Amino acid sequence: MSLLVSGIGELVTNDPALGSGALGVLADAALVVEGGTVAWVGRTAAAPEADARLDVGGRAVIPGFVDSHAHLVFAGDRAAEFEARMSGARYDGGGIGTTVAATRAASDADLRGRLRDLLAEMRRQGTTTVEVKSGYGLTVEDETRCLRLAAEVTTETTFLGAHVVPAEYVGRSDEYVELVTGPMLAACAPHARWADVFCEPGSAHAFDGDQARSVLEAGRAAGLGLRVHANQLSAGPGVRLAVELGAASADHCTHLTGADVDALAGGTTVATLLPGVEFSTRSPYPDARRLLDAGATVALATDCNPGSCFSSSMPFCIALAVREMHLTPAEALWAATAGGAAALRRTDVGHLGPGARADLAVVDAPSHRHLAYRPGVPLVRALELPR
Ligand code: NIG
Ligand code: FE
Repeated sequence: MSLLVSGIGELVTNDPALGSGALGVLADAALVVEGGTVAWVGRTAAAPEADARLDVGGRAVIPGFVDSHAHLVFAGDRAAEFEARMSGARYDGGGIGTTVAATRAASDADLRGRLRDLLAEMRRQGTTTVEVKSGYGLTVEDETRCLRLAAEVTTETTFLGAHVVPAEYVGRSDEYVELVTGPMLAACAPHARWADVFCEPGSAHAFDGDQARSVLEAGRAAGLGLRVHANQLSAGPGVRLAVELGAASADHCTHLTGADVDALAGGTTVATLLPGVEFSTRSPYPDARRLLDAGATVALATDCNPGSCFSSSMPFCIALAVREMHLTPAEALWAATAGGAAALRRTDVGHLGPGARADLAVVDAPSHRHLAYRPGVPLVRALELPR
């Protein structure tokens, strides 16, 4: 069955060959969907016949958001930690242990229910592709369980056994890295597409450069793609390691040296910025303009998790990126869609040219600019297409 979506006031295709600017914007546009794929894009006046028609009444249509960094398999929350931070406490990753304890104690049904609720919350805000990490189990059994649950809802699953050193391994972090790179990876790799590590040498909880390299090299040897939690709390070795190893993405990039910027601009690793974290931890925002002006590919993602940023909202990230990191509204939307797709090395999502997956989000406004212009207003929803 084919469906003609018409009356699109502004269609963002992210394909410069189809419309104006980097977003490939078309006014008075229409789009034909067939078998879950975009079959045709053009002006409403030139639209072909289709089996069914949906008029969106002059609203903007954008590619569904690609949230390339989220931690959605967990139990409990850390509202008290957030409250303490807002009174001056610093975020150092230490609270992750609280969520690990709650997650280990939770049933599959509880974890599954929370995961699905968060995904539904994301979808209501226009997100159609989500990466989901493990990282709150930190035993062979619990990491495998978290990844099995994640794999029920997305193909973008990430093994993050090296999130922090769990309580039972404190003072024995090298031994924990052996567990992660050995039996834990062996059990988890069949359920994961990616391997990730929290590289933060200055932190009492995370992993130094050598440990991160071991985790990433083992992940690669097991056939997984690579991503890195890099340079979140300080300008450590994470970003350069990610680029050197050809990781798909270096995430956070909050503290960057000139060498880090040059590495990202010269390599194939996407710089994924997570401004909800800076908002929720009251930290300085990354220098996004420096990255963009140097030629790095930038993605925006939520990092949705119970500690550093418990927001599932890509529109919120876009508003922060524009207001706090000086991206233009167009750059921010590109980073939240095509940028996220690049960070996941996906060519089927993040754009709306013919052949793309028909992941459409409708903005209840005439232009994508309203995403940042009207912060906090629920303007976007993923379009449910008839099967
Ligand atoms: O991306 N930095 C490490 N991990 C997460 C936070 C997880 C948590 O605090 O529970 C992050 O910010
Ligand atoms: Fe994260």
